[in-house]
Amino acid sequence: MRLGLVAALAASLLLAACGADTKPSALPTEGVTDAMLAAPPEGEWLSYGRDYAEQRFSPLTEVSDQTVSKLGLAWSADLDTARGQEATPLMHDGVLYVSTAWSMVKAYDAKTGALKWSYDPKVPRETLPVACCDAVNRGVALYGDKVYIATLDGYLVALNQKDGSVAWRSEVVPDHQSYTITGAPRIAGGKVLIGSGGAEYRARGFIAAYDWATGKQLWRFHTVPGDPAKGFEDKAMETAAKTWGGDWWKLGGGGTVWDAITYDAKDNLVLFGTGNAEPWNPGANGRNKVGDAANGDNLYTSSIVAVNADTGEYVWHFQETPEDRWDFDSDAQITLAELTIDGRQRHVIMHAPKNGYFYILDAKTGQFLSATPWTQITWSTAMDPKTGRPTINPDARYEQTGKLWVSLPGAGGAHSWHPQSYSPKTGLMYLPANVAGFPYMAAKNWKESPIGFQTAQDSAAVALPAIEAVRQQTLAATTGALVAWDPVAKKEAWRVPYKGPWNGGTLATAGNLVFQGTAAEQFAAYTADTGKLLWSFPTQSGVIAAPMTYAIGGEQYVAVLTGWGGVWDIAPGLLSSKSGIPRNISRLLVFKLGGTAKLPPAPPLNKLVLDPPAFTGTDAQAAHGADVYGRYCSVCHGDAAIAGALNPDLRRSGAIEHADAFKAIVIGGALHQGGMISWKQVVSPDDAEAIRQYVIKRANEDKALGGP
Ligand code: HEC
Repeated sequence: MRLGLVAALAASLLLAACGADTKPSALPTEGVTDAMLAAPPEGEWLSYGRDYAEQRFSPLTEVSDQTVSKLGLAWSADLDTARGQEATPLMHDGVLYVSTAWSMVKAYDAKTGALKWSYDPKVPRETLPVACCDAVNRGVALYGDKVYIATLDGYLVALNQKDGSVAWRSEVVPDHQSYTITGAPRIAGGKVLIGSGGAEYRARGFIAAYDWATGKQLWRFHTVPGDPAKGFEDKAMETAAKTWGGDWWKLGGGGTVWDAITYDAKDNLVLFGTGNAEPWNPGANGRNKVGDAANGDNLYTSSIVAVNADTGEYVWHFQETPEDRWDFDSDAQITLAELTIDGRQRHVIMHAPKNGYFYILDAKTGQFLSATPWTQITWSTAMDPKTGRPTINPDARYEQTGKLWVSLPGAGGAHSWHPQSYSPKTGLMYLPANVAGFPYMAAKNWKESPIGFQTAQDSAAVALPAIEAVRQQTLAATTGALVAWDPVAKKEAWRVPYKGPWNGGTLATAGNLVFQGTAAEQFAAYTADTGKLLWSFPTQSGVIAAPMTYAIGGEQYVAVLTGWGGVWDIAPGLLSSKSGIPRNISRLLVFKLGGTAKLPPAPPLNKLVLDPPAFTGTDAQAAHGADVYGRYCSVCHGDAAIAGALNPDLRRSGAIEHADAFKAIVIGGALHQGGMISWKQVVSPDDAEAIRQYVIKRANEDKALGGP
């Protein structure tokens, strides 16, 4: 009773505090203003999705289906980091602003490519094991005379556009053991909006608003309820708590806001997507087991949520994946558009999250309008056309069956963060699609650990076996595509099939073009209405970022970052090579009509030799090694000890030749400055030796199969 009273008091105080000073400093009247963000000048690209609606549609037409065959490289710039490059460059007043891996920022003369300044927040490389999906960054924001970057280690930094000097720096994350930031900040009426990642660790999702001029926090909205004993911050948390069981708050609950943030200026709402519930396996802490009066939906995870842009107060939510256990983030970009649906003009949200459905919601109220499967879905067998609630395939509740469940889509998503684009001219949405299943299996007797993933999956049990037929079958089933989706007709207009998944984001232009880079090292232009390939350029490296376009003095440019990486490079083992052996050459490429610049000759593809020492361990030791490897190492060094381009492939590492050298790295932390921390908190010397024997065994198996 008394506890409840204190909690209510604390909550009302919190609310009062939040209501009182959520007003930002006077808005800028020079530089990038709110009016410009709402209606960007034709030749500029001022925010992540180009405009508030985040359509990534450019009205420029100089480069068109008629002229694109003359597109050539205008200039390029090599980046000083070789990890995944996910950012969309921004262009204002002749300057191109780019963020790179490790949250660095560069400003280039957009016409010549001359570097004006660069900023390095010096993110500790030891942050890598806290970041689920590589040291990536998806972009900066522009406002007034500032450029904003959110850093991997959890800070929001305002730089002066003129020279890159730091204006202010604010700590956004509650701690640095579980939270990282990879998303691009968005701006709404003087407020810089940002969330975080971390739902594979111990994160409680949130989105926060900061004063553009001072860096002071104005409001913060949590996406999942905290410890009830401490009182709920608001009514929304109290409501959400009824959908959680066990002591969910101890692991944070997840629901992190790591990508999609869209400002709906019409309704003054901040719309954002939330991530997976944690741990992935709900059996591990009973988070989805609640009493009869409630359900185990785990609000507001895997949802779109709308809050008041001025105060951060809850307005509505729509959950796309109830009782998530598949890592089905709803963080994919949220696009606004005016569509005519059933004869009625509507202001809608279009969203294609990981779970494989394409959603249309009323932007103001969150009212469900439709959800259409746009790719093969196995985890859900039906969709309620009135409520938008999916029927879950009972087999997909893998913690209840105790069996392996291979889901389509998988944890990589039918569509993840790779930005989509929408052309109001064609009425089509251009989606980078992944067709990739994922095996889920609940870990038995799982306990949380001080470091590493807290997904409660049995990664060793589901590792791809070294059986040629199984490998070929799995590889064949793993593909990708560029899909043009008609949201009104609710059907596919056209599709370009790709060999593998994890291709780049898309850009649509009024020149009847769609641009996209691919995992297979090409940057291509297609006709927007029919999907005909008109032009392509060999990029020497896989592309995952989205292109953008701008014009200076009437001349149109198209820019894109190259640099394969992100989670699909580091985690899925053999499958990361589906489009070709992945390599990372991190560069900024800028094209224009008649461009004649050349890239340096491509370095030869690495010769991949497997020459492991003989296996001297016991089978029991290797099996134990597989377990520890699956729990702590596979997320970076790859499923079944097969790595991508970014992290060392342990099967080919000299370190596996000597037990002591291996221990010096894994337990002694000899390579911590490169992001390979000491795992001594969770890996004993015997465990390390078991991992070494497991890797040697795996290497010999693959050598026998003649594989790389
Ligand atoms: C967060 C990502 C990450 C995780 C998780 C991780 N590593 Fe690493 N590991 C790296 C990186 C990055 C390097 C390269 C460091 C460098 O070269 O400075 C590396 C290097 C190594 C090397 C040296 C390889 C070489 O040839 O240079 C070994 C051995 C190794 N890791 C073993 C392990 C083991 C065993 C585990 C699990 C207990 C593990 N790693 C977990 C990222 C990771």
